[in-house]
Amino acid sequence: MSGTKKISEMKSDEIKEAVRDAYSRVAEGTWTADEQEQGCCDAPAQTTSSCCGPREETKVTRVNLAQALGYDTEGMPTGATESFAGCGNPVALASLNEGEVVLDLGSGAGLDMFVASKKVGNTGKVIGVDMTPAMIEKAKKNAEELGITNVDFRFGDIEDMPVDDNSVDVVISNCVINLAPDKGKVFREAFRVLKPGGRVMVSDIVLSKPLSKEIRDEVVTYTGCIGGAILDEEYLQNMRDAGFQDVKITSKAGQSLYGAYSAYIAGKKPE
Ligand SMILES: C[S@@+](CC[C@H](N)C(=O)[O-])C[C@H]1O[C@@H](n2cnc3c(N)ncnc32)[C@H](O)[C@@H]1O
Repeated sequence: MSGTKKISEMKSDEIKEAVRDAYSRVAEGTWTADEQEQGCCDAPAQTTSSCCGPREETKVTRVNLAQALGYDTEGMPTGATESFAGCGNPVALASLNEGEVVLDLGSGAGLDMFVASKKVGNTGKVIGVDMTPAMIEKAKKNAEELGITNVDFRFGDIEDMPVDDNSVDVVISNCVINLAPDKGKVFREAFRVLKPGGRVMVSDIVLSKPLSKEIRDEVVTYTGCIGGAILDEEYLQNMRDAGFQDVKITSKAGQSLYGAYSAYIAGKKPE
C-alpha cells in the first residue's frame, strides 16, 4: 500500500493500488471530506468536474455535477450517478451511430456506458474496462437495474486492455488517462484495439503549465486527477506517437488552480 510515500518514490503498481483504493471508496461512498478538499476540488473551475468528489460545503453532489456537464440523469440508477467521477461528457461529443462498438476506458459506475448504449442500440455494444472490482460490481448492478444487455464490463488495466485487436469503432474515456502511470501505453493499446478509421473522444485533465514537484508528489492529488496529469501538448504528442491522426483538443472546460483543466481530446486511427 502507498502509506505516506511520495508518488515519485512509488512504483507503477503501487500508484495503481493507491488509485484502486481511492476509487473503491468512491464506489462505496466513503471518499473522505479531506480528499474532496484537495486535488481538483480546490479549483473553482472544478464545479464541473466530479473526479475529486462533490463539494460538501456547497452541497454540490455528483448528480449535480453530471447534470452541469449535460447528462440527462432522468431514469439513471442512483448507483450510476452517485459514483460518477468524470470531468466531461465525452459521449455527447463522440457522434456515436447505431451498431457501433464503443470502448470506455476506466468505466467506473457505468454512466457513460449507459448513455452510449442507447445511442448504439441493440445492434451495437459498449465495453467498459476498469481495474477497481468495486466499480465493476457497481456498474453491473446498475446495468441490471436498467435492464440493459448491450454492455460488457471487463476487469482489467487500460495499459494492457482485455480487448481484441481491430475490434472497436470508438474509444471514449472520462477523467481516467491522467491516472495511468504510462499514458503512452494506454494510447498504444487504444490504437491496437480500434478498427482502421476508428476514433477516440476523451475528456481528461491536462496541464497548461507544469505542476510543482510538491503537488505532483501528493498521493491525494494524484488520485484526485491532478497529480498525474501531463502538459496538454505532451498528451497530444503521446497520441500522435501511438499512431493517431487529426489529434486535437476540441474544447476546454476552464482553468483550475494549478493550471490543470478539463479538455475534450479527439483523434483518429488511419484507414
Ligand atoms: C475518475 S474515475 C472516472 C470513472 C468514470 N469514467 C466516470 O466518469 O465516472 C477513474 C476510474 O478509472 C479507473 N482506472 C484508473 N486507472 C485505471 C487503469 N490503469 N486501468 C483501468 N481502470 C483504471 C478507476 O478504477 C476509476 O473507476
